[in-house]
Amino acid sequence: ALVPVADLLVQAEKGGYAVGAFNANNMEIVQAIMEAARLEKAPVIMQASQGAIQYAGLDFITGMVKIAAGDEDIPVALHLDHGTSFEQVIRCIRGGFTSVMYDGSKLPLEENIAITKKVIEIARAVGVSVEAELGKIGGTEDNVSVDEREAMFTDPEEARYFVEQTGVDSLAVAIGTAHGQYKGEPRLDFDRLAKIRQLTNIPIVLHGSSGVPDDQIRKAISLGVRKVNIDTNIREAFVGKMREELAKNEREIDPRKILGPAREAAVEIIREKIRLFGSAGRI
Ligand code: G3H
Ligand code: 13P
Ligand code: ZN
Ligand code: NA
Repeated sequence: ALVPVADLLVQAEKGGYAVGAFNANNMEIVQAIMEAARLEKAPVIMQASQGAIQYAGLDFITGMVKIAAGDEDIPVALHLDHGTSFEQVIRCIRGGFTSVMYDGSKLPLEENIAITKKVIEIARAVGVSVEAELGKIGGTEDNVSVDEREAMFTDPEEARYFVEQTGVDSLAVAIGTAHGQYKGEPRLDFDRLAKIRQLTNIPIVLHGSSGVPDDQIRKAISLGVRKVNIDTNIREAFVGKMREELAKNEREIDPRKILGPAREAAVEIIREKIRLFGSAGRI
């Protein structure tokens, strides 16, 4: 059954680990996330991005995740990733999401606070948890210099104020990660992370975590990261395997023969991440 993300993060807080939040883009990936969680006896978060909602449709994603979570004993949460509007967030809550991100990071601070508060008021009433973003995480394809990216890092004092004003459940921070494949190796700003955590005292969310070296992920978790978002690493494993299978047999016309092995490859990478985050064997 689907559980609220807040419940999973409370457990993660107690255990000092992080829960993996994996992007659910199609049926095979939803099944792979579930299989990995089952094999590792780990709680998981399946999240729907803007691209996934456009690609599969909100009802399909919701339906697939509900079926996958079904009558398993594995706690699974369904989360909206980078929710773009109040309306979208409410549609997801009505559809059965157990957690939503309202991403107002592009807005002026007070506007971000105002809309986040409105979302929280409704979400709370139905037991749905809310994630917000402060600072701008952005993508590796954004073509910004290191200085420009640092200028968009989360300001710890602003984070303290934001959390105080909104009472948000978790906070996504910009500390040097980016969505997509890194060109070089990212270097996270751990001092900033420690300060944000100290001033907010809530679970911190790390976006753009694909491609971040394992030791930096571990360190971030030791400093209060409780939800780690992974999409790109699954895409790489999935499509990499598809390419391999297609090259092996150029005449293959059965999509299942290509997508089955791709699904297996996704299971493997998700299992590795679950172990890295320390959430294996937690149920
Ligand atoms: O939030 C970032 C996701 O990793 C990718 O988003 O599915 O909308 O391309 P997308
Ligand atoms: P990656 O692109 O690094 O996998 O990040 C995913 C993410 O943060 C989704 O919100
Ligand atoms: Zn993200
Ligand atoms: Na990344």
